[in-house]
Amino acid sequence: MPHEDPADPHAQATALLGTSAIARTRVDSTSSARANRRWWDADAAQYHDEHAAFLGVDSPDGEFVWCPEGLHEGDWHLLGDIGDLHGKRILEVGCGSAPCARWLAAHGAYPVGLDLSRGMLERGLAAMARGGPRVPLVQAGAEELPFADASFDAACSSFGAVPFVADSARVMREVARVLRPGGRWVFSVNHPMRWIFPDDPGPDGLRATMPYFDRTPYVEVDADGTPTYVEHHRTLGDRIGEIVAAGLTLIDLIEPEWPEWLDQEWGQWSPLRGEIFPGTAIFVTEKR
Ligand SMILES: C[S@@+](CC[C@H](N)C(=O)[O-])C[C@H]1O[C@@H](n2cnc3c(N)ncnc32)[C@H](O)[C@@H]1O
Repeated sequence: MPHEDPADPHAQATALLGTSAIARTRVDSTSSARANRRWWDADAAQYHDEHAAFLGVDSPDGEFVWCPEGLHEGDWHLLGDIGDLHGKRILEVGCGSAPCARWLAAHGAYPVGLDLSRGMLERGLAAMARGGPRVPLVQAGAEELPFADASFDAACSSFGAVPFVADSARVMREVARVLRPGGRWVFSVNHPMRWIFPDDPGPDGLRATMPYFDRTPYVEVDADGTPTYVEHHRTLGDRIGEIVAAGLTLIDLIEPEWPEWLDQEWGQWSPLRGEIFPGTAIFVTEKR
């Protein structure tokens, strides 16, 4: 995610945080969380300028979009039939402005949205202040969930938290802990194979430049070398291993194809690349 381009949709955050270089270096949980909390606070406005309409952030009842390929929970039912959402306690991890949680509430569920970034949550509060269902929002990190064991019937995450944490195995264990037996945990992330290509939606993004097996995080740093943005890579095998080790059963793995109706790019996600290889992986799991 290089940020030198003046048309860069993250220019405000980059300038605010003084991002000046890209590093490939180990970053622990605390530093990753600190960098990403500051990043999402700084980027919240531009993120929403660019993506709020696609995500339905300002729709009265929210929307539940799983990925840049536009899969909607209302069509895919990855959390179960819409009729069965009624009365379910559902945790949304890395909810941002919580359009997904608000959509779940509009369908009768009792969702709670959790996110590290106050800036992202505040955008959700602003949307809720204009009407529609109100959802409790909690500011906390996904590696240590502030909820009791077995307190949710289901959990979900649309690109929230999982790609950004140093210890995603711990997130899997934490979500499993707060789920009741049989509860579903569905989360979408960058497809692991995207790691090997530059973050470029065009032809330059079709040439592999990184080893798939190199788990060294992608880190942006300021002039002092302090991380300002961190992304962590896991292979497909890593993700499945973490799911199984947490006491979850993998039920399905969705690799969305780029739909014909969609010509809108989202960062490195584009029709060009989406027609050739997947940009998103959606893991559908259940607590044993
Ligand atoms: C790509 S945004 C997705 C937000 C929302 N799900 C959406 O679709 O717009 C990633 C979100 O994950 C949150 N996040 C990053 N690291 C986190 C962590 N360790 N714990 C909880 N949330 C985190 C960010 O603050 C941000 O809101």
